[in-house]
Amino acid sequence: MGAFTQWFNERAPGLGAVYKKHMTEYYAPKNFNVMYYFGSLAMLVLVNQIVTGIFLAMFYTPTAAGAFDSVQYIMRDVNWGWLVRYMHTTGASMFFIVIYLHMFRGLMYGSFKKPRELVWLIGMLIFLVLMAEAFMGYVLPWGNMSFWGAKVIITLFSAVPWFGHTLVTWIMGTFVPGDPTLNRFFALHVVALPLVLLLLVVLHLGALHEVGSNNPDGVEIKKHKNPKGIPLDGIAFHPYYTLKDLVGVGVFLIICAVIIFFAPSVGGFFLEHDNSIPANDLVTPATIKPVWYFSPFYAILRMIPSKGLGVLALAASIVALFLVPWLDRGGVKSIRYRGLGYKIALAIFAIVFFLLGCIGADLTPGWIVSIFGPNADITTIENLFGRILVILYFAFFVFLWVYTFFGFERTRPVPERVTTHA
Ligand code: HEM
Repeated sequence: MGAFTQWFNERAPGLGAVYKKHMTEYYAPKNFNVMYYFGSLAMLVLVNQIVTGIFLAMFYTPTAAGAFDSVQYIMRDVNWGWLVRYMHTTGASMFFIVIYLHMFRGLMYGSFKKPRELVWLIGMLIFLVLMAEAFMGYVLPWGNMSFWGAKVIITLFSAVPWFGHTLVTWIMGTFVPGDPTLNRFFALHVVALPLVLLLLVVLHLGALHEVGSNNPDGVEIKKHKNPKGIPLDGIAFHPYYTLKDLVGVGVFLIICAVIIFFAPSVGGFFLEHDNSIPANDLVTPATIKPVWYFSPFYAILRMIPSKGLGVLALAASIVALFLVPWLDRGGVKSIRYRGLGYKIALAIFAIVFFLLGCIGADLTPGWIVSIFGPNADITTIENLFGRILVILYFAFFVFLWVYTFFGFERTRPVPERVTTHA
């Protein structure tokens, strides 16, 4: 090993330095908790999507006439094709579970605050690209939901003033989703967007490693260093966290394996029933709804009666997340030491996001319907309840600014060092 390292270092001296900077000499706070597993899990899922995607692309046909059958061929005839496809479809949903938890961790511990605003912004760009990537991937099997989903979502661009309809035709390449749509979505899904994602992840980690990781106490470990310049509350990322992350990977893979082998469609959530029917422009599915991970945003779109305003609200719901580092003016990062108002607001925000997801997926919880009595009209309930939720979603961001800007927040004293130091 020694001889090999020397041979390597003589030829590429810079690479060893990069390895040290990001692995053996990257000092991460020693108090990471379970919420810190999701960054590395997101990287694992990204790799899984790329590797299984390459194998799927070997057998998939990107034409309206051949796409659906080629997926059936992968499932039934290609050796282990079913496994590769289920790893890819399960990976897509798990990606969003992991990312939503990763983002929630950021909101809990104030990881978006100075000096990590750029890490958050790049993260949000990743989120946008990920949504585009997932949407285009969903169109590829050319099932009936692929077709109608593509039609509904692309048609949203017609809300753009003046040239909206031209834009829709330009994106589709035709007047209804067809071969040109499928061909360009295939190219984007398989080549362009994965490259952009990879680049953004490198920038995300590059930006993080410049300033160092935050932690559940929200204190800057760089403030207290030993004579060698190593943070007193830091431990080397490799081997300590590489090893610890493996525990998370083990648990995560067990959960994924259970889904893949025993319930790959997860009751129609991970793989929708209507997508087992070939695309048919004469048969509209009973309810056109996106996959579960888009449903909170879809609910925001649907709950606003005017199409233009609905699209605006949808865009605003994502823009608001981009702005969080500037809306939150509070001086304390971690929820552990923040005011009660923030704790309650974040809990309500998480519940609202979940309930919006239920509305977007046409699953209004039974207890809400029961409040209105047995004869109530479900659409009326959904609209009323859904609109309250939309208001609450945006209220979180307004509250965050008012609460912190006008100094209403009563914080607790933040410790000097992470609370688990010896
Ligand atoms: C492909 C998607 C993503 C990957 C692979 C990824 C990867 C990572 C990794 C490996 C870390 C360091 C370990 C950790 O803190 O968990 C990290 C940190 C972070 N990520 Fe992401 N990330 C992704 C998406 C996002 C998104 C969508 C956001 C939010 C908008 C985000 C915000 C952050 C923040 C704020 C940190 C710093 C956390 C801290 O130091 O407390 N990331 N990310």
